[in-house]
Amino acid sequence: MSMRQEYKAKIVSKEYLNEDTLFFVLECPDIAAAAVPGQFVNISCDKFLKRPFGIASADKDKGTVSVGVKIIGEGTKNLSELEAGDIVDILGPLGNGFDIESYDSYILAGGGTGVFPLNFAYETLTAMGKEVATVFGFRDRSQVIMEKDGHVITTDAGDYGIKGTVIAGLDSLELKGNPCVLVVGPTPMMRGVGEWARSLGLKCFVSTEQHMACGVGICLVCVCRVKSDNPEEEYKHVRCCKDGPVFDYEEVIL
Ligand SMILES: Cc1cc2nc3c(=O)[nH]c(=O)nc-3n(C[C@H](O)[C@H](O)[C@H](O)COP(=O)(O)OP(=O)(O)OC[C@H]3O[C@@H](n4cnc5c(N)ncnc54)[C@H](O)[C@@H]3O)c2cc1C
Ligand code: FES
Repeated sequence: MSMRQEYKAKIVSKEYLNEDTLFFVLECPDIAAAAVPGQFVNISCDKFLKRPFGIASADKDKGTVSVGVKIIGEGTKNLSELEAGDIVDILGPLGNGFDIESYDSYILAGGGTGVFPLNFAYETLTAMGKEVATVFGFRDRSQVIMEKDGHVITTDAGDYGIKGTVIAGLDSLELKGNPCVLVVGPTPMMRGVGEWARSLGLKCFVSTEQHMACGVGICLVCVCRVKSDNPEEEYKHVRCCKDGPVFDYEEVIL
């Protein structure tokens, strides 16, 4: 569960993964100790609002958390200009996180910056001894990041890994048992993977990346819709930052 605390965190290291995406390791022992995969942190930049980033890794022993940052606009550009030793304000861990307990095996499917929270899920689930298959999809070879031994990589251009979308990668898996599918990426990709999972009768959870402001459930900037249990209403509004960002694919309206 979120502890919703704000800390000062020192940047331990900063590394470019490709021309517009960086990986930061931050010193923040409390967040490292409390974080579960699928949760996110809000990090300060030189703009008014903090920006949300999925936790890409957490090392309880070293007291560090890592995030991947793709440069999108001014806030992420400012973050990219920070250096090791600089201090940021960091709020977290935020959100609900994935259910990593209830299943023996998992399929992680991601694209874009979704590979970051899934990296944390991969590290945690493998450390728990669970069976994990990972499929990451990218535009082309130059975009491939966070690849680990055994990961299935797909590229639209076909210049690396399997040619096609993550669905081609998922189709290449030898399915055993009833794995739970966790998916983070652009909405069309999450829908595609959600439908793939549904066609096979597999449970699927998606992590929504709605625009956010407060990140802690107050401002309602991030609302999305989930199916309602009430027969009088088709759906109800929930806050992605607090009630999510992880939702059951069968419940959330993407
Ligand atoms: C739960 C969650 C997890 C995320 N994880 C990552 C991650 O691991 N790595 C990563 O690079 N990016 C991630 N993002 C997207 C990232 O927050 C945005 O790219 C970033 O906020 C853009 O800020 P900006 O100032 O550069 O761009 P601007 O476009 O100037 O942003 C202006 C405002 O819009 C919001 N905003 C813009 N794009 C997004 C977006 N895609 N999602 C949500 N809010 C947005 C910003 O927070 C800000 O309030 C995540 C977003 C959410 C909601
Ligand atoms: S971002 Fe403010 S309620 Fe979710």
